[in-house]
Amino acid sequence: MSAKTINPNYVRIFDTTLRDGEQSPGATLTSAEKLEIAHGLARLGVDVIEAGFPAASPDDLKAVRRIAVEVGNPAEGESALSRSRQPPIICGLARAIKSDIDAAWEAVQHAERPRIHTFLATSPIHMRYKLKMEPEEVVERAREMVAYARSYCDDVQFSPEDAGRSDPEFLYLVLGEAIKAGATTLNIPDTVGYTTPDEFGKLIECIIANTPGIENTIVAVHCHDDLGLATANALAGIQAGARQAEVTINGIGERAGNTSLEEVAMTLHTRRAVFGLETGIDTTQISRVSRMVSNYTGIAVQPNKAIVGANAFAHEAGIHQDGQLKNQSTYEIMRPETVGLSHSRLVMGKHSGRHALKVRLAELGYELDDEELAQTFSRFKDLADKKKAITDADLEALVSDEIYQPREIFSLDGLQVTCGTIGMPTAAVRLIGPDSELHVQAAIGTGPVDATYKAIDEIVKAPNTLLEFSIRAITEGIDALGEVTVRIKAENGSIPRRTSPQSGRAHRLTFGGHGADTDTIVACARAYLSAINKLLAASGRYGRPEKVTEVAMAEPVS
Ligand code: KIV
Ligand code: ZN
Repeated sequence: MSAKTINPNYVRIFDTTLRDGEQSPGATLTSAEKLEIAHGLARLGVDVIEAGFPAASPDDLKAVRRIAVEVGNPAEGESALSRSRQPPIICGLARAIKSDIDAAWEAVQHAERPRIHTFLATSPIHMRYKLKMEPEEVVERAREMVAYARSYCDDVQFSPEDAGRSDPEFLYLVLGEAIKAGATTLNIPDTVGYTTPDEFGKLIECIIANTPGIENTIVAVHCHDDLGLATANALAGIQAGARQAEVTINGIGERAGNTSLEEVAMTLHTRRAVFGLETGIDTTQISRVSRMVSNYTGIAVQPNKAIVGANAFAHEAGIHQDGQLKNQSTYEIMRPETVGLSHSRLVMGKHSGRHALKVRLAELGYELDDEELAQTFSRFKDLADKKKAITDADLEALVSDEIYQPREIFSLDGLQVTCGTIGMPTAAVRLIGPDSELHVQAAIGTGPVDATYKAIDEIVKAPNTLLEFSIRAITEGIDALGEVTVRIKAENGSIPRRTSPQSGRAHRLTFGGHGADTDTIVACARAYLSAINKLLAASGRYGRPEKVTEVAMAEPVS
C-alpha cells in the first residue's frame, strides 16, 4: 500500500483536461496533442488522468488507448524499484450503458492502473427531461452499471450527475447502492456550477455522514465555474472531507469551465497551515503545462487569471515595486519560481552551443530527438542574433513553436508586409505546400495581419472564420518574442462534428493555432497556418483525416 493510500491528508488530483476540458467551446485536440498533454500531466504529478470519452468514436477510443499504453505504464527500462513514482491512473468516461463501459475498458485496460468512470444524472430535472427515467430506475441502473464496470476493473468511479441540484436523501441512496455494487470512488459533481461554497461543503459533509459504506471509498469533488465559484466550491468540499479534486489546466471545460488545477494545487500548497493537506503536484511544472494546453487548444489564458495569467506575478504600480525591492513578501504570496516561471533568468547567449541548449531544455523537462533539437537550435541561433538575453521563457516559446505543431501541410517560407499611414497595407506570402510546391500570393487588407491572412487564404483555400486572436510578449523589452494564439472555425461542412457525452448535442469544430517570433506579423502568420493545418488535416483533403478528438462546441449545430 502506498503512502497516499493510507495518508488521510493526501488529496488526489484527478485531471480532466482531456475530457471535460476538451468539451470547452473551442478546444480541438489531435491525438498527438492529447498524448503530449498527458505526458505533461504525468510530469506534473497528477494522480489520475481522465483521458477522454472512448465511446464517442473509434478515434477517441484509440487516443485514450494510446495514452493508457504510453503514459499509464512505466517508461522503458524503468523497474518497479527504480522508479520515483507510479504512472498515473488512466481513466475513461462512460455513460451508464454497457456499450460505453465496454469502450472505456477497451481503451484503459492497457494502463498499469486503469479506471472506469461511469455517470448517471440524479437531479429531478435531469431524470425527468433528459433521462426520462423514474428515480427507482436510476438507482437500479446505477447499481447494475457499476457492477458491470467492476466485472472488468477493480477501480470504478461513479458520479451522480447534477448532484448539486439533486435531493441529498436520494443521493445517499444512489451512492450507497453504487458502493454495494463496487464503486471505489464517488465523485460529486456540481454539473451546472449552481451551488455556493457553503452549500457544496455541507453537501459533501452530509454525503460522508449519511451514505452507508462511504468510509471505505474516496469522495471526489467536480465543480463548474458558471458563477465563478468552482475553486471555492472544490476547496469547501475538500475541507468537508473529499480527498480527490477533479480539475483542468487553466480551468478550461464545458461553458465557463471547471475548477482549475493550478488554483487548487497552489491554494493547498500556499495555505498548508490552514488546510493541512498535501498533493503530489510538482508545482514547478504548472506554467509549462498551462502554456502547452493554451497553445494546443488555441484558448488563450486571460492575463489576470490566478497563477498562470501573464499578470499573475507582475507588479506594475510604483508603490508595489518599491515594496517588493524592500521585501518580496510585501506583495507576493508565492514565488514565480514555485510555479515554474523564470522569466528574468538569463540562460543562454549567442555563443551557446547545441549541447548547452539540449542540457537546458532537458532541465526544463523537454526531451527532444535529434531532428527536433536541430530545428529548435536553428530558431535559437536566429533569435540570439536579434535578442541579447535569452531566457527560459523564450526557450519554451521556441520549443512550443517548433515542436508542438500539427503536421505541416502548408509551411511559411517567406513573408513581406508594407504598412503604415501612407499607402495600403499589403502582404506578400510564400508558402510551401503539399508535395513541396511553392506558392506565392500578395493581398491588400485593412492592416498587415488582415493582408497576411488574406494572402494565406488565397493559397490554402480553407474557408474559415477567425473567432479569436490574441498576442502577448513573452518577456519584457522591445526585442521580446511575440506569441500569437488564434482560433478558427471551418466554414464548410466537411469537418467532423461531435456529440457531447452529457448534453447529447452535436457541435461544430474549431481549431487553435499558435506561433512565436520577434516579428509579430511573422508570429501571426505562423499561428494562423498552424490552425489552418489542423483544419485541413481534419478535413482529409490532403490524405487520411488526422485523428481529431473533437469536442462539444459553443455553437450547437442546427
Ligand atoms: O460535470 C459533470 O457532471 C461531469 C460528469 C460526467 C462527472 O463532467
Ligand atoms: Zn463536468
